[in-house]
Amino acid sequence: MAEIQITKKEGYALLTIDRPKALNALNKDVLTELKAAISELNSAGDIRVVIVTGSGEKAFVAGADIASMKDMTADEATAFAELGHSAMNRLSDSGMVSIAAINGFALGGGMELALACDIRLLSENAKMGLPEVTLGLIPGFGGTQRLARIVGQGVATELILTGDMIDASRARELGLANHVYAPGDLLNEAEALAQKIIANKSRPAQRAAKAVIQQGLDLALIAGLQKEIIEFGELFDGPDPKTGMTAFLEKRKADF
Ligand code: CAA
Repeated sequence: MAEIQITKKEGYALLTIDRPKALNALNKDVLTELKAAISELNSAGDIRVVIVTGSGEKAFVAGADIASMKDMTADEATAFAELGHSAMNRLSDSGMVSIAAINGFALGGGMELALACDIRLLSENAKMGLPEVTLGLIPGFGGTQRLARIVGQGVATELILTGDMIDASRARELGLANHVYAPGDLLNEAEALAQKIIANKSRPAQRAAKAVIQQGLDLALIAGLQKEIIEFGELFDGPDPKTGMTAFLEKRKADF
């Protein structure tokens, strides 16, 4: 793949958007490759965590590709937004845990890619923002919906209507960044988190937890709680609860 690099490790993979000349901006080709890469990793079966990052030291992803959008018709823009949404949804809905390792600018569609990930780690020099209104646009790859779900309606409205960029410490305060690291430590920390997520943890339990957390955000509390009961019970159709609880009672770590 030309503009997406995949490096597979033990149980996890690094997915790098590799278009540094345009600060890794997302055009149609990159989005199409991104979708294919996510599907490939998800169906490989042995990849439980995907770390998404950007090539170079300056940017995670500086947004959707402005040059390629400038002359779009309304129909073309709609199709482009649909393509972006389908790439973000494929990541968000995948059975893998996704970690965004944000190594610089994450703007517009780049911030939206980070919002579609389950966990966001930022380098100290990262900057996030949705500057679309300065271009006569609105966020088109899910930002209007996902940002408000993470930081709340008031903060999301302010960030989207001003187009302001925020730094890593503000992102941390808002709950947008799970952790902030020195630039040289970011990828090592992302890999350490991937390994921690994998080690001695039940994959079916993690998949069920991710699904219930995500789906629950779109449901009334009572319906989300009901979903939790169903998923809790269904895990007992598989071997992992017995494996995990037997290991606990025998005072050792589970080997799932
Ligand atoms: N699309 C296309 N090209 C981009 C780009 C983008 N989103 N962001 C940067 N580039 C290109 C620049 O045009 C420049 O190319 P040339 O060298 O050929 O001139 C190159 O990357 C380097 O960028 P700068 O010279 O601008 O670098 P800088 O350090 O001065 O500024 C920056 C960095 C603040 C990130 C600035 O590049 C910038 O503001 N980029 C645009 C950010 C943006 O507005 N993103 C939102 C896009 S719209 C969107 O994403 C819609 C959606 O939701 C679907």
